[in-house]
Amino acid sequence: MSKKQFTTHHGMVDILPGESEKWVYLESVIRDVAKSFHFDEIRTPILEQTELIARGVGQLTDIVSKEMFTFSRGDDNYVLRPECTAPVARAFVEHRLDQRGGIQKLFYIGPMFRAERPQKGRQRQFHQFGAEILGSSNPAADVEIIQFMMAVYDKIGIKNATLQLNSVGDPSCRLAYKNALQDYFRPHLDELSEISKTRFDKNPMRILDSKEEEDQPLLEYAPLISDFLSDECRTHFDTVKHYLDNLGINYTLNPRLVRGLDYYTRTAFELTSTDLGSQDALGGGGRYDLLIEEIGGPKTPAVGFASGMERLFIACDALGIEMPVTSIPDVYIVTRGAKAQEWAVKTLGLLRHQGKSATMDLGGRSIKAQLKDANRSNAKWCIIVGETELETSMFTLRNMKESTENQYPLNEIFELIQ
Ligand code: HAM
Repeated sequence: MSKKQFTTHHGMVDILPGESEKWVYLESVIRDVAKSFHFDEIRTPILEQTELIARGVGQLTDIVSKEMFTFSRGDDNYVLRPECTAPVARAFVEHRLDQRGGIQKLFYIGPMFRAERPQKGRQRQFHQFGAEILGSSNPAADVEIIQFMMAVYDKIGIKNATLQLNSVGDPSCRLAYKNALQDYFRPHLDELSEISKTRFDKNPMRILDSKEEEDQPLLEYAPLISDFLSDECRTHFDTVKHYLDNLGINYTLNPRLVRGLDYYTRTAFELTSTDLGSQDALGGGGRYDLLIEEIGGPKTPAVGFASGMERLFIACDALGIEMPVTSIPDVYIVTRGAKAQEWAVKTLGLLRHQGKSATMDLGGRSIKAQLKDANRSNAKWCIIVGETELETSMFTLRNMKESTENQYPLNEIFELIQ
């Protein structure tokens, strides 16, 4: 019987050594940015209650209607989280974080799951970093969230992305807008794509997000939300734009940007890049002033963003940006014989205690193979030890980059490799 070969599920990928170092680096950049903006980390479970996501993200969205990985166990319905804003809002309500004092500024990094058709930049398990400010209706909070997002791309070196900006208003502006959209589309219902027809009654704003070819000519002349904003929503939006202008953050106004999740109110934004292909959104977010109440919490205005980490790496590849690789050992000890190995085990301990990254061969390989391995690992130094070295207490120290070597006592070696 032939042995079964197991593989990952479609759209889910292993992050292998050689790749994982990039992730560690990106995560360190995100943490540095979070620290400078004074955001605290939050880690929520991978599994949430299905109803939380259905209510939070919205029944009519693609995510809830067709992309959730769900299962039940006993009376409980589980969903692999497709995003982290509803989970953070749930944690805020569950742990009464509003009583922790002040406005909550939280960030997260982690895997999300959507049962989408995989393609470049679109996976079924993907990773997001994101940030949320809970408890502030101040336009300065919207700007801080946008700045946080942009700061990560800036530090990584992605500077050619476009920030698309819109205000989707609040329920008071949207009622009139929804009517205007329906009045506009009604005479053309037959010409709309099937998916847009299903959105006509309950959520005509989502028609604006359509990528279907037959919808495009109609979308061009559809009414714009900017003509329906209430005075409060308009003032909020003007202030956001004014602050962005003051900061020199460029943006493109896109009155058709509606985003694919239902919880947004007022500010909505997306960072897009032409380096990504058809999945062109590096990240996106906006204000969601009603979500926390919607899931049973106190009235709490909030704003946030999330960015796809795989897409950030795709943009880096396209732009030739390389992340610093951190897994290079300072020292590789090459040994000949059992005594030398015993010495190496002890010496590795001393080196590591001094904060050095140090390693040795664990496969019983020949000296030649060990040196080859040391070379491949890009180790900066090699200590070569055999019986003679142990007898004389003089060890060979090889500078791998310069291909030079000399013999020294161990204490001098420790000084030389500092
Ligand atoms: P989203 O636009 O659904 O927003 O996702 C944010 C980012 O996650 C996207 O721009 C994209 O880079 C990445 N992404 C989404 N789906 C996939 C996928 N299947 N494969 C690879 N990358 C993907 C949200 O998730 C909101 N929670 C953002 C937010 C936070 N709004 C307020 N706070």
